[in-house]
Amino acid sequence: MAASLHQMTAFAKIVGTGSLSAAARELGVSTAVVSRKLGALEARLGVRLLNRTTRRIALTDEGARYHEACLRILAEIEAFFQPKSLAGKRVLVTAGPTEEPIDPVRVITNASSGKMGFAVARAAREAGAEVTLISGPVALATPAGLARVDVRTAQEMFDAVKAAAGSSDIFVSVAAVSDYRVANRVAQKIKKRAGEGPRLELVENPDILAWVAKQRAAPFCVGFAAESEKLGEHAREKRARKGIPLLAANLAQEAIGSDDNAITLFDDNGEHPLGRGPKIELARKLVAHVAALMAARQRRR
Ligand code: C5P
Repeated sequence: MAASLHQMTAFAKIVGTGSLSAAARELGVSTAVVSRKLGALEARLGVRLLNRTTRRIALTDEGARYHEACLRILAEIEAFFQPKSLAGKRVLVTAGPTEEPIDPVRVITNASSGKMGFAVARAAREAGAEVTLISGPVALATPAGLARVDVRTAQEMFDAVKAAAGSSDIFVSVAAVSDYRVANRVAQKIKKRAGEGPRLELVENPDILAWVAKQRAAPFCVGFAAESEKLGEHAREKRARKGIPLLAANLAQEAIGSDDNAITLFDDNGEHPLGRGPKIELARKLVAHVAALMAARQRRR
């Protein structure tokens, strides 16, 4: 079944591209090769790839909606086959950047697509958890079956986390929270003056993850660290400083905006490289690791 599922996912990606020539470009082969391979795959799996005959509608709104529905169904099939390692758990995830206004049109923010946080939320839900996803401004569809709360600033994210953390078993803080907000924010747009930039006064935002980790009866806390160098050194230091049992570290230049990532986990037992791959696959490995650590904790009690 695993092989077929993998092939179905590959199928869906090709369907998603909307045409044979786009698929050929993506795969770096000729359209004849794609067509032959799809034919062979159809025969092997005993399925029919609708897009081969209906690819024109893929370019219309109706076609786009149809493909969206197919991808949703496929996601549900994939979810069905994931181990239910977090059944009965409530998981809170933060994702995306936060935005700190300077004036009505300008902001300070962090580079973050939200893809990793959304993948973690999806993987937790696939594992049987009840998931709340608190997201900064991103352009991503909500994965099926979870509650999403949209926020803009770090303070709004903090308020939303405070409201949900007490009833959560696990908190995964993937958001790239702005470290600073603007103290001298103004109500009207700042006018440009030649040769002179506005002076911003910055104040530090609350560390949301550290706050949650400090609470009595805190949920099991997982942090993320995007570093540009010395991954292990910074990750170990950050895990200790935040007082959290598990930290997932990646290199910012490899992770930001990409569909793929490479992650190493740091916990009391040392370091665990998860390898490189699509963010959803790494998120599933992370979820499995969290479930194993929680089960070990339970046994010790
Ligand atoms: O300290 P640093 O920002 O590098 O730590 C990253 C981790 O801390 C991430 O898990 C991030 O979501 C969390 N964080 C937070 N609140 C902040 C800053 C970071 O929850 N103000």
